[in-house]
Amino acid sequence: MASSESAVIHKGLDNIYVCESKICYIDGENSQLYYRGYSIEELTNSSNFEEVSYLLINGELPTKAQLELFKTELRNSYSIPAPIVEWMRGLPKSALPMDAIRSGVSMLSLYDANPSDNSLESNKKRSYRILGAMPALLATFSRLRRGLEPVEPKKNLSLASNFLYMLKESAPDEYDVSVMDKTMILHAEHEMNASTFSCVVTASTLSDMYSAITAGIATLKGPLHGGANEASLKFIQSVGSPEKAEEAVERVLRAKQRIMGFGHRVYKNFDPRYKILRKVAEKMVDRKPDSKQLLLTAEAVEQAALKRLSNSKIFPNVDFYSGTVFNALGVETDLFTPVFAMSRTPGWAAHALEYLEDNRLVRPKAYYTGTVGKKYVPLEERGDSAAAR
Ligand code: ACO
Repeated sequence: MASSESAVIHKGLDNIYVCESKICYIDGENSQLYYRGYSIEELTNSSNFEEVSYLLINGELPTKAQLELFKTELRNSYSIPAPIVEWMRGLPKSALPMDAIRSGVSMLSLYDANPSDNSLESNKKRSYRILGAMPALLATFSRLRRGLEPVEPKKNLSLASNFLYMLKESAPDEYDVSVMDKTMILHAEHEMNASTFSCVVTASTLSDMYSAITAGIATLKGPLHGGANEASLKFIQSVGSPEKAEEAVERVLRAKQRIMGFGHRVYKNFDPRYKILRKVAEKMVDRKPDSKQLLLTAEAVEQAALKRLSNSKIFPNVDFYSGTVFNALGVETDLFTPVFAMSRTPGWAAHALEYLEDNRLVRPKAYYTGTVGKKYVPLEERGDSAAAR
């Protein structure tokens, strides 16, 4: 369109601030990440996923009493509504878990006792309900498609522990639970990324928390975002052994493709979450003999890719090792991104709630480059080929 209006186009919204926030600070140059002011290293060393979830959503670490109350609220939604289990039972074998939990979270809204109460408090409680139900949504889907009956959650277990317990129907190893919990903390929040922005956009219309989290899951699905952990593991598995790593990395880069689990829009240095996961993976080499070959191959791929990409400031991100770690914990490959979604729920909720406190409908513009004033041609006069038009 001929226009005198000039527009600065921020493709991908790079470097655009959409709001002020007190939730997360990423120092991409210095590889630092803070949730509500606490470094990710400190939280993974000293805290647990429930406490971090409370911190993200409520702004402060909980007191003992607040944490107990929060856990009780989570536990109250550990069991998912029976009709959702029945719906999952009828899903086709080809259904993808990310699609199932996206729809599952959306379905939870149908069982909300007060669907038209859209107060901030009510939406906060909804975020607890969604978070509490996530492990059962994932585990139930996984078991049913394997031809197994769902396992009832145990009220005395944490979210991480319950997830592993329901998945395998056996008491999870303490070490596995602590790795799962740490990994969930690492994925709990990451500022205004694509999925969080989706939540905020949805919340800004004064929709509701179920819709906002559903939008977040939908956006996280893509391989340029949450889907990269699965793609990264598949690549490492395809390499097969450490000595084939250099050649495989070379092949990918020669074909102008990307090494999944490398690169980041914000980190132009090591992703601090990757550093923590790398240490976890290193320790797993001895503890998980079945995964040793895979873990060593991952290390070799990482080294080969670093050699080729670090000069361009492309470093491993959280997704490089998360897939390998989840695999060693016995989580099926296509559940990785759903586990990421389960872990990110408190971060999504925190941003949606914070934005709503000073809400403004998100409504950017698109710079029109088409034409105007075209004459409508009736269908029968348009001819057969598109070119004729
Ligand atoms: N492997 C090889 N080359 C890469 C990679 C990679 N993983 N990432 C970026 N590059 C190259 C691009 O090819 C491009 O090169 P060119 O300028 O010669 O064309 C250059 O780096 C810049 O790429 P952009 O896509 O513009 O960089 P951006 O900062 O937008 O990239 C992204 C971020 C999308 C994450 C990218 O690094 C990527 O695709 N990585 C692989 C997927 C991945 O791991 N995603 C998970 C991100 S973390 C998360 O969402 C939890």
